[in-house]
Order: sequence, then C-alpha cells, then structure tokens
Amino acid sequence: MIRSVSFIGSGNVATHMARALYKNQIEIRSIASRRLRSAKQLAAPLKSKAVKGLSSIDRKSDLYIIAVPDDSIEKLAKSLLNHLGPKKRVVHTSGATPTSILEDRFHKAACVWPLQSLSKDKRIDFRQVPICLKANNKSFQKELKVLFNSIASSVYLISDEQKQALHLASVIANNFSNHMFTLAQTICVNHDLDFDMLHPLILETANKIIDHEPIAMQTGPAIRDDKKTMKLHLKLLGENKEYTKLYKELSKSISRHKP
Ligand SMILES: NC(=O)c1ccc[n+]([C@@H]2O[C@H](COP(=O)([O-])OP(=O)(O)OC[C@H]3O[C@@H](n4cnc5c(N)ncnc54)[C@H](OP(=O)(O)O)[C@@H]3O)[C@@H](O)[C@H]2O)c1
Repeated sequence: MIRSVSFIGSGNVATHMARALYKNQIEIRSIASRRLRSAKQLAAPLKSKAVKGLSSIDRKSDLYIIAVPDDSIEKLAKSLLNHLGPKKRVVHTSGATPTSILEDRFHKAACVWPLQSLSKDKRIDFRQVPICLKANNKSFQKELKVLFNSIASSVYLISDEQKQALHLASVIANNFSNHMFTLAQTICVNHDLDFDMLHPLILETANKIIDHEPIAMQTGPAIRDDKKTMKLHLKLLGENKEYTKLYKELSKSISRHKP
C-alpha cells in the first residue's frame, strides 16, 4: 500500500496533486525542485521537506512522482535511477510522454495523467479531475488505482497509444478553443467592446455538448452556408491575414462536418 510520496517538481501538477494526497492522509515526505524557494512554498503547509535538486530527496518514500516539463522527464528519470536504484515506484504525469521512458529504468513504472488544465494559483476540486493511468505491471496498477481513487472520482486505465490520442484530443478541445477566445477578445478590444459580453455564449457552447453530440450543436454562418455573412466577416477582418486564413479554414472544416 502506498502511504508516502515524494515529488520532483513543485509546479502546477505537483501543487494540486500533493495537496489532494496530503488532505487524504498521505505523507508527502519531500519535494524537489531546482529553485528551493518554489519547493519550500509547496512543502511548508504540507509538513514536507523541500530539497534543491535530487541529491537530498527522501529515500524511503513509497512512491516518487515526477511532475516536471515533458522535455526534462527523461533526464530526471536517469538522475533518480542513479540516486535511488531501479526498485522504487516511479510515475510521471505527462499526457504526451510514453510510460516506456520510465519502464526501461524502474521495475515499477507508470504514468498518472490528470486530464485537466491545472494552474497552481487557480483552486480546483481535485475529485472532479479525471485521472488516466497506465502502469507496467498489474500489482503496481492496482496500488495506484487505490491511491488515486482516494483523491479523484474517475480513474481510467488506458494504453500509452490511447493516452497520446486523448492528449491530442484535449489539446484541440482545450488549447485551441482557448486560443479562439484570445482572438475573439482581441476583436472585442479593437472595437471597444467588453469581452465579458461573450461569457454566456462561451459557457452555453461548453454546456450544450455535455448531453448532445458537438456536431449536432454546430450553429453559425459556415454550417448554414450563409455566404453574405461570411463575406462581411472577412471584410471586417480586413488586412489581418492570419485571422482571415483561420476564418476560411475553420469555416471550410465546419461545412465539411455536417450532421
Ligand atoms: N499543467 C497542466 O495543466 C498539466 C495537466 C496534466 C499534465 N501535465 C504534465 O505535468 C507535468 C508538469 O507540468 P506542470 O504544468 O506542473 O509544469 P510546471 O508548472 O512548469 O512545473 C514544473 C516543475 O518542474 C520543476 N523542474 C523543472 N526542471 C526540473 C529539474 N531539472 N529538476 C527538478 N525540478 C525541475 C520546476 O521547478 P524549478 O524550475 O524550480 O526546477 C517546476 O516546479 C508535465 O509533464 C505536463 O505535461 C500538466
């Protein structure tokens, strides 16, 4: 049974996960980060030890969670192996990184990917965060499922291939939509309009697809093939080549995906 955890990283994911585990009586033995100040900020309220780098990381934790940028996971896994040996339970939290990056080094390796956009300064109910889990053996998978079921209501067992596809889907659904909000806000600002006026529309768009197929909920000039309206919008976009290109491509894609 996993009763104690150490974190490598003290950023967005480490903050939310460590707080949720601590609330659930899991001991957070140490938090490692390159900047000691950032590790200390997270560690202090969790009665944990903040450490700079891996040399002083706790050696007796039941589980080590690597929550660092994707490009640093491999390097840190190598250092962790040098410090602790291959017998430790080690997981990373990346959607795009395969579990094999750890499996080659540790007997018990896994990925625990929170399928949510997490920012350390934005409060979130961690119980509502879906957790996608892939472990390299059945008993470790079971231990992780028990641990994460205690802090999150949905823990999904998925393959690495499914995880990468789900990560792509989440980038399109979340990051791309958010970028559209940024462009919409720019248009509002340029015309002396308050972006808040669009909030009800944005919320309704997200709410509708909870119990309806997104394709059936598509509205707007592209799905209706309202050429005059689209022409007017392109005129309004004027000299902005980037927005014009996006508008045309997205409108074409919408008209190709009719229910
Ligand atoms: N944020 C999200 O919404 C989200 C959701 C799901 C999964 N993920 C995944 O979770 C992982 C972490 O993402 P994040 O958003 O939490 O990143 P983040 O907020 O940028 O935090 C990364 C942390 O890693 C530390 N770090 C970086 N290099 C390090 C090193 N060499 N040694 C020790 N610590 C190091 C950083 O602190 P120092 O600079 O002080 O070292 C920082 O505390 C990524 O794999 C990401 O794909 C993120």
